[in-house]
Amino acid sequence: MDPKVHILTVLRDADQPVSGERLRHSLGCSRVAVWKHVNGLKDQGYPITAGPRGYRLEGGADILLAADFPGREDRIHHFAELDSTMTEARELARRDCPAFTVVVADRQRRGRGRLQRTWHSEAGGLYFTVVVRPELPVQQATWPVFAASLELARLLRERWGVEAGVKWPNDILAGGRKLAGMLSEMEAAGEMLTYVNIGIGLNVNNDPRDSEAGAVSLRELTGAPVSRRELLAAFLDRFEARLRSADLAGVIAAWKRWTVTLQREVRIVTTRETLTGYALDVDADGALLLRTADGQVRRVTHGDCFHQPGGNG
Ligand code: BTN
Repeated sequence: MDPKVHILTVLRDADQPVSGERLRHSLGCSRVAVWKHVNGLKDQGYPITAGPRGYRLEGGADILLAADFPGREDRIHHFAELDSTMTEARELARRDCPAFTVVVADRQRRGRGRLQRTWHSEAGGLYFTVVVRPELPVQQATWPVFAASLELARLLRERWGVEAGVKWPNDILAGGRKLAGMLSEMEAAGEMLTYVNIGIGLNVNNDPRDSEAGAVSLRELTGAPVSRRELLAAFLDRFEARLRSADLAGVIAAWKRWTVTLQREVRIVTTRETLTGYALDVDADGALLLRTADGQVRRVTHGDCFHQPGGNG
């Protein structure tokens, strides 16, 4: 095992400070080598403090180490801090990483939201990007993203009892407040996708209200801290099963069961225009069918959706 991963695992599992001597013995190296590894971890952003009784990992119980994802160890790339998991995942995807490679960070310095917004990514939230390689034409690049929002909403409902719904295209809301957002990037060779990267920012134990009015965390909804590790592992299992299943084509129909966007007045903001109208349906490729005031039906493929007052989501 990598010495740094060993140190993190020992510190995380200890309920009191761990002496340099103990680490030195279990690693079979010098105290100076331990000290260098610990400093390296601190430089990577891990909150390790040193006191008279030894080293301590602050808030360590919920550190996301690859070793904590049995069967996925080789595909989990965990960082204490990163600019954006999207950037790292793109590099990996272009270097032919396997499908279901995951880049996860405890904090992001330049987290990205849709429409060039910043996604504030302070400690306690779950920030990750999954690389998928579905054998699909470009037109159906939305399917894996709809699968991700569907499976995340279902998981939050079934495991944590949260009234999660999906706002078009892929936000997760609970009681009208934003719990998670998704961003996707893809590349294709001709007509066929080579990869789709799905970035998910989920408010778990962080407090998102300062950076985004109308946002909520899972901790606030459940009244207790939630294990990011359990959440990520459960999500990846469900998402991978859904993507490997034969009925991915049915994902939009399944997603519609959980959406809070349809049959209501909405406002859609894109980088070019703002549209208002009645959200009639979502078509087979995930585009929103919007009836505008002049009675026409517009097919909207991207944008931010705002529910107009009077609805429940
Ligand atoms: C949105 O609702 O605007 C989308 C937010 C997507 C945020 C996630 S956090 C993990 C991944 N890395 C990023 O920089 N952005 C996505």
